[in-house]
Amino acid sequence: MATRLSPRISRRYGSLAAFLLLLFSVWLWVAVDRPYNFPSHIGWNIYSNSPQSDVVSEDIFDYPPVHSSAIKAVCAATQWNESLVFTCDDNVGGIGHVRNSILNCVRFSIAAGAGLVLPRISVRNDSDISIIHTGSLTNMAYLFDTRHFIDSISLSCPGLTLYPELDDFKKINNANNPIRLSPQALGVKFPKTGMEDPKKFATAMPKAGMDKPEKWGELFHEWYADIGEQYQFIGTTKGPIFIALLRSYLTWPILSDGQAFSTQFGKILKLRADARSLATKVVKNMAEKHKFAANVHAPILENSFWGVHLRTESDALESLPEVSKDRLYPTYAMQTKLYLDFMTQERNSVNSSLVYVASGDPAQVANFWKDAKVMNWTVTTKVGLLRGKDLAELNDLTWDQQALVDFMVLAKASRFLGVGHSGFDWALTGRRTVSLSNKNGTKIDSARKDDNKEIKKVAVAEVGESAFLNQLFGAKGEVKAYKTCLWP
Ligand SMILES: *[C@@H]1O[C@H](CO)[C@@H](O)[C@H](O)[C@H]1NC(C)=O
Ligand SMILES: *[C@@H]1O[C@H](CO)[C@@H](O)[C@H](O)[C@H]1NC(C)=O
Ligand SMILES: *[C@@H]1O[C@H](CO)[C@@H](O)[C@H](O)[C@H]1NC(C)=O
Ligand SMILES: *[C@@H]1O[C@H](CO)[C@@H](O)[C@H](O)[C@H]1NC(C)=O
Ligand SMILES: *[C@@H]1O[C@H](CO)[C@@H](O)[C@H](O)[C@H]1NC(C)=O
Repeated sequence: MATRLSPRISRRYGSLAAFLLLLFSVWLWVAVDRPYNFPSHIGWNIYSNSPQSDVVSEDIFDYPPVHSSAIKAVCAATQWNESLVFTCDDNVGGIGHVRNSILNCVRFSIAAGAGLVLPRISVRNDSDISIIHTGSLTNMAYLFDTRHFIDSISLSCPGLTLYPELDDFKKINNANNPIRLSPQALGVKFPKTGMEDPKKFATAMPKAGMDKPEKWGELFHEWYADIGEQYQFIGTTKGPIFIALLRSYLTWPILSDGQAFSTQFGKILKLRADARSLATKVVKNMAEKHKFAANVHAPILENSFWGVHLRTESDALESLPEVSKDRLYPTYAMQTKLYLDFMTQERNSVNSSLVYVASGDPAQVANFWKDAKVMNWTVTTKVGLLRGKDLAELNDLTWDQQALVDFMVLAKASRFLGVGHSGFDWALTGRRTVSLSNKNGTKIDSARKDDNKEIKKVAVAEVGESAFLNQLFGAKGEVKAYKTCLWP
């Protein structure tokens, strides 16, 4: 049954929840043997995520809540602990990044047996997209389908109690001031000095995920016992203690819970409904306009279109990853050359000269259109495939929300080309590989220097011979963390 926060709170929410559950979602009550605590002041819109119109749009990207026995087995082995509640508000960047850090929060909550307040997302600065740390937080419906998340957790991990908002606990213990924890720091042997310097701290952290994720729950409880001296209210109060999980991008090794868990876990985060509906329109309009015969419901559309991610946006140029000696320079010239050469060489592997290009950089898309045309490719984009009200709806979305449409369309491309230093591209290739298991997954080719001689060498020497589903270009040394820790 429900985690009881205090008699007062549980009475208030208990009766409210009973009423709302009867009214709106009786099935939830039946499916889940604990009530979800609905606060009185949250509008229903954040749970439904439905677009403004009453017309139900077609949605080829929809799927039911996740009911996974692999996840259930991991959750069943957890000792749930009502005195601990985690928050997960340090989620910044684009969909690839945010998705991974939220999934990690859920995994850490399971490991500790803690409850979780619905994660929040940091909203990127709309006038300068390279500024991701804005301190402006919004709820997870910004990118995801919150209802689907709640339902999937209820079905696949019934022990994990979700709470809508930290504000609901204003007066309880340290809810106003959760204890901050960088989860992947537990168990790391830090040098005695210099750790207040963020760079030194980052250097001491594991680079490609934690060594022993299965020990994390134990490490957490040891850490928690130790901080009792520093936070004297621990152990003296009733009700939960709140712990704020700091950003944990690329930390939990995804295979540590087995293959089935690793492929199903990411599906608890379904993208928001209005983006799904726009992506459906893009794919259907593309099929109609360019006359490809594939069934748009298939996970990958064979012989239909090439998908390309042009990762030249200002945030990629300005906020270079730090472990980057060996990285692919994210310039337009280099990416275009690699992509077009590769596609031309592999032209016969997809019976289509249509290229769907995704980029948050319209000027470079226009250049790509021209450069590709010379080599007999037809380039299209989401903007080119939407009209009128749909286009207006797309334009009303923020930069990161618009990227969701590209993410879904690219997921269906016959073949996908991207860069190896993009979380977006890795999340995408992971999903694509999982959705079609009989094809080879991702191949990494390395490129070192941003000059034509080097590019040629790479294109000739390293392009794969077999028809891989995904092709990423980048430096080999950088990909270990993505491969190990990015949930598909
Ligand atoms: C957003 O970017 C603009 C333009 O660079 C800047 O003036 C503004 O202060 C930024 N706002 C935040 C919250 O970072
Ligand atoms: C919950 O975790 C706390 C902190 O580690 C511990 O003191 C307590 O015994 C745990 N309770 C249960 C029921 O496991
Ligand atoms: C390629 O596409 C053309 C035109 O859509 C079609 O006539 C042809 O049969 C296709 N070939 C293969 C090998 O799928
Ligand atoms: C493009 O197509 C034209 C006409 O079929 C052909 O003459 C030209 O060689 C092609 N160019 C490339 C780069 O394939
Ligand atoms: C997968 O890769 C192997 C080894 O490179 C190759 O032999 C095989 O043909 C590939 N399969 C597909 C479906 O591309």
